[in-house]
Amino acid sequence: MADKTRVGVLISGRGSNMIALVEASRAADCPYAIALVASDKPDAAGLAWARSQDLATFALSPRGLGKPAYEAAIDAALREAGVEVVALAGYMRLLSDGFVAAWRDKIVNIHPSLLPKYKGLDTHGRAIAAGDAVGGCSVHVVTEELDGGVVLGQAEVPILAGDDADTLAERVLAAEHALYPKTLAEFVTR
Ligand code: GRF
Repeated sequence: MADKTRVGVLISGRGSNMIALVEASRAADCPYAIALVASDKPDAAGLAWARSQDLATFALSPRGLGKPAYEAAIDAALREAGVEVVALAGYMRLLSDGFVAAWRDKIVNIHPSLLPKYKGLDTHGRAIAAGDAVGGCSVHVVTEELDGGVVLGQAEVPILAGDDADTLAERVLAAEHALYPKTLAEFVTR
């Protein structure tokens, strides 16, 4: 992976976006390599998958540690792995301003809405309740403002009659798996 950008992926759960990034990274012409998969949930399903693929992993629960010590340990693990860009993929913890500043313009996230609409949680339910004709997902730079940084790429997904939050989430997730690898590749080569 000599000339590839080293990416660290932070997850909290099933990690399907992380898997999409890993699978895309295996293409010879992919400009990034996954140098570390880290999780705040030691029992995250995505972490087990990453281990099964012999990827470098790091797991640490912040419980009992406190946020500063927890983030210092994550930061150290990322730096030890030579990570240059951090990709959040279903990472359910807010990063502190200090962590964001230490990785300024080096952290990206995937969010299941067409930002700036529907920051935060329950994005699909809110899009349906609002009567929107389209939902979708966005990849953005992470700043101190929740889901607030520059949008790097988006994919639209039509909202169909009879959709509920779950059916829409499922179709948006498929769009996420295409959007994230493509946008990350553009980001690391820009
Ligand atoms: C995705 O919908 C992502 O947009 C959001 O959290 C979900 C994570 O899913 N931030 P997965 O863990 O990548 O499967």
